[in-house]
Amino acid sequence: MTKHLMLHGEHTTLVLAHGDGPPAVVYWGGSLPNDDAESVASALNRPLAHATIDVEAPVALVPELGSGFFGSPGIKGARPDGSGWAPRFTESRPPEVTADDIRFFCEDPIAGLELEIEIFLKNNRDVVALRQMLKNTGDTPYSLGRQSLSLPLPTHAEEILDFTGRWCDEFHPRRQVWEAGAIINENRRGRSSHDHVAVIFAGTRGFDEQHGEVWGFHLGWSGNSRLVAERVSDGRRYLQAGELLFPGEVILEAGETIESPWLYGAYSATGLSSVSQAFHQHLRGRDTHPSLDKPRPVLLNTWEAVYFDHDLDTLKKLADRAAEVGAERFVLDDGWFHRRNDDTAALGDWFVDDQKYPDGLEPLVSHVTGLGLEFGLWFEPEMVNPNSELYRAHPEWVLADADYELILGRNQLVLDLANPDAYAHIFGQIDTLLTDLDISYVKWDMNRDHVQATHNGRAGTRAQTLALYRLLAELGERHPHVEIESCSSGGGRADFEILRHTRRFWTSDCNDALERQRIQRGFSMLFPPELMGAHVGPHVSHTTRRTHDLGFRGAVAFLGHLGIEWNLLDASDDERAQVKELVTLHKKFRPLLHSGDVVRLDSADEASMTQGVVAADKSEALFAYARINTARSSVPDPVQFAQLDPERKYRVTILALPGRSGEFGRTRPQWMDDGSVVLSGKALMMMGVQPPVLDPESALLFHIVAE
Ligand code: GLA
Repeated sequence: MTKHLMLHGEHTTLVLAHGDGPPAVVYWGGSLPNDDAESVASALNRPLAHATIDVEAPVALVPELGSGFFGSPGIKGARPDGSGWAPRFTESRPPEVTADDIRFFCEDPIAGLELEIEIFLKNNRDVVALRQMLKNTGDTPYSLGRQSLSLPLPTHAEEILDFTGRWCDEFHPRRQVWEAGAIINENRRGRSSHDHVAVIFAGTRGFDEQHGEVWGFHLGWSGNSRLVAERVSDGRRYLQAGELLFPGEVILEAGETIESPWLYGAYSATGLSSVSQAFHQHLRGRDTHPSLDKPRPVLLNTWEAVYFDHDLDTLKKLADRAAEVGAERFVLDDGWFHRRNDDTAALGDWFVDDQKYPDGLEPLVSHVTGLGLEFGLWFEPEMVNPNSELYRAHPEWVLADADYELILGRNQLVLDLANPDAYAHIFGQIDTLLTDLDISYVKWDMNRDHVQATHNGRAGTRAQTLALYRLLAELGERHPHVEIESCSSGGGRADFEILRHTRRFWTSDCNDALERQRIQRGFSMLFPPELMGAHVGPHVSHTTRRTHDLGFRGAVAFLGHLGIEWNLLDASDDERAQVKELVTLHKKFRPLLHSGDVVRLDSADEASMTQGVVAADKSEALFAYARINTARSSVPDPVQFAQLDPERKYRVTILALPGRSGEFGRTRPQWMDDGSVVLSGKALMMMGVQPPVLDPESALLFHIVAE
């Protein structure tokens, strides 16, 4: 018999049907009163149309082909004799309901499978998190091709926003109308990827940052993934997400259980920014999240400053300059280890190069820590160059099929971390360095896609992903004070699961402030600013050759976890003084920036882009207003702020950042000449404030403080 359960977040309600097959979501949206789960289900009960089978299979959390669901089944697999290919589960015992979560238990004795589904909502703000566990209770192996989770959406979720991208162009938004049929997003790169990010938003027609019902989804997984958004011909819509499994990749032996990655969903009735805030709040509630007690240290990274050209004296001077401008962490990037003089050699040999560092890294580390800065070190532990001591000793440790010619990427191969010997070797090397040296930070890079990634003769991306998590967890346990940054050719591995072990993302290798406007806006859809590595680079961007004033570069990096990636030894006294001023200001504002609610503004003016943070108690806000283009009209539109307290009075000023402001008008708006303006939150949101005429590719910060 079908029963119903109601779960509540702060602003959301989930109504679930269970008792027959796998549980199904009947309603997921804004809060409903507590007492009418059965009425909700009755009101939404669907009639049967002609020319269909005699039951309508629900869009269950794990929908079943075996029950007559013709969309994408939640489980796909079979036994060697072909049986078990279309399982149909029944509830085997009542769900277990605790204060935090609900667990549902199902079985299919014919297929020899048990299914457990776990859902969190209550203490998760408005983020619902779910996963499934599948057990092979039969006596032959079960070859699993899919283990995903599905959530239905109402028909009025008519538009989709998802993200594509590439190196230096992460989180590129793609908006489309959700017609009948399926949108399928498959990632086979062995990392969360630049181009098939496992994030999707669906919403009512024309939804934007502050309006419309929006549902957001993210699969917390750092390997391959598959997302489906389908509208089936009976009108129902659903989103499904799971790991993408290759043939033979998962063979469940008798008695074995497999856990799926977590699927996260968030809902808001007031637009996209609020869905992002729900995801951010969820992350901020995790105990692995950087604590506000220790402000995010401003760092200097050596990559674009010196690349592979490591010279101890130069690096010491660079650290001196970093300290002078107020940096609190010095990160030694690629180039420090055995014979690593370019990207053709040495990955896998994680010991200090004795030509560049005859006395090891200790002299540099103690110099840096002596300046009061933390020391960070770059690794790419999952990789090996054929030209390395490691590969020469253990060519069999690569994650590949040795019967074929090996395909390189950036001159490197992937190391098979699911091989216990390879794992132990890499663990040992990193552990030694973290033990011997005063290292507080690791930049953990991963710069190559998986191609034909083969472990023990079978597709190996899943095993590799799990081994990576294990390696990160073990190192984390041994060195709990070490913070790890997740980097993958920039933002190629940004997801909620890697965040259980890491505390920052390198958002993009592109430090060009113009590109960063959009990249960071996309990144903020899922992740809060304190996780967003944002560096001030030199005058000329290394990846685009565009030239930007420090005023623009600073305003864009200001809103994230600030860093400097610039050879300050080449910077003028004036420039360094300006960087110092920027860092000082950032430190002043980082408690707000790293705890506030991210608010992205919509604008009819395509030449501008505005985003910022509003303090949780709405007492203060900071918005970065950027001209990203030459505007069609000579005078820009007023900026209409959002998510302020309509009743309170706020004083609006421009927060002057060092460097050129980019102002280009013959006169300024009067309120700027006056120095500030005081208006109600309501006026600031309904009519806005006139910005000055700005050059394209310049930005300014609006500082809004309650009186
Ligand atoms: C990747 C990273 C960069 C840098 C280089 C070093 O490209 O994204 O930030 O660390 O590797 O080789």
